[in-house]
Amino acid sequence: MTHMTPHVADTFVFQAAACRTLGSPFTANLCELLLSNLDESSRFGARIIGWPDSARADALALRACGALHWLARSGKARDLAALYPPLETRPDVLWEAVKTAIDRHDDALHDFLDSPPQTNEVSRSSALLGMTLKFAQRWKMPLALYEIGASAGLNLAFDNYRYRLGEDREWGKSDALVEIESQWRGPLPPLEAELEVVSRAGCDRNPLDPHEPQSIERLLAYIWPDQRERIERISAALMAAASMPYVVDRADAADWVEARLAESPTEGVVRVFFHTIVWQYLSEDTKDRIMAAFEVAGAAATEETPLIWMYMEAEDHPAGAVLKQTVWPGGKIETAGLADYHGRWVDWV
Ligand SMILES: C[S@@+](CC[C@H](N)C(=O)[O-])C[C@H]1O[C@@H](n2cnc3c(N)ncnc32)[C@H](O)[C@@H]1O
Repeated sequence: MTHMTPHVADTFVFQAAACRTLGSPFTANLCELLLSNLDESSRFGARIIGWPDSARADALALRACGALHWLARSGKARDLAALYPPLETRPDVLWEAVKTAIDRHDDALHDFLDSPPQTNEVSRSSALLGMTLKFAQRWKMPLALYEIGASAGLNLAFDNYRYRLGEDREWGKSDALVEIESQWRGPLPPLEAELEVVSRAGCDRNPLDPHEPQSIERLLAYIWPDQRERIERISAALMAAASMPYVVDRADAADWVEARLAESPTEGVVRVFFHTIVWQYLSEDTKDRIMAAFEVAGAAATEETPLIWMYMEAEDHPAGAVLKQTVWPGGKIETAGLADYHGRWVDWV
């Protein structure tokens, strides 16, 4: 028995299944507890139950679970935090603590629901590394990086991380603050290629500032509490990013891409524009403008001023996110492989 309307209930059912598949049984259970027990006696509950038809698109279940994790991490609800992972708690015991926390912190939890969930998954960097190593090998030129929808910009620093790509396959400095483990399937990218990055730039409609504790706490709240390694990895990447010189501009993707592509290219530098799990959030108009800007700039690209548009995006593939690149001059579209949404594996072609 649930108090939720069918479309809200559907969002929680969908999210529970997704969390189970992606390795967060705790968040799956929490979605199911909210589905079965949440009622309208709190502002938090009433807002969720009365959410409009856009509940799935608004990732409502992730907003609700993020709100509770944020509260648990804040130190203001110790009874709730004590029952969070790594402890395994009986569902009825957890629900009692969740209910008490909702009663005591109703306004704060209610307000947390305002913003869409925003993360920055640093493990996606392993796919970016593989793709860019191939460009470095092919052109033997340094790269200028441009990230669309960069969030906190953690993936813009992918060449500063250390990677373990399976047995005896490593890349990066041994003293790197961030270590990423990704199961690499298929042929290896050219790990010996010389990868030099001469510039980094990014945009996001809501950039997260690694210097600003509140936005960082919000970002960490959306990481599932039983995925300790992700929390630790992203915390380390945030620490590293705080001392990096690049900034993520607050800008709409289309405006920013048009402006960056209108700049004169530097000879002997490969321009690499990229995005990971962003395309689905862009409007049709924004996507059309970005594609048109690439066509125009691509037509002017030469072997001395190459242009690449690469991405890791959903594209409705059942197993993972598709890795693709369009390369100018020529405009050839190439598929590089498939990757797990959280970077746990890469299937390389
Ligand atoms: C799912 S997150 C992915 C963030 C990052 N690329 C990653 O892989 O961790 C999607 C990002 O796209 C940004 N975004 C959505 N629409 C945008 C737009 N029109 N212009 C710029 N950024 C946008 C969001 O703010 C968010 O940071």
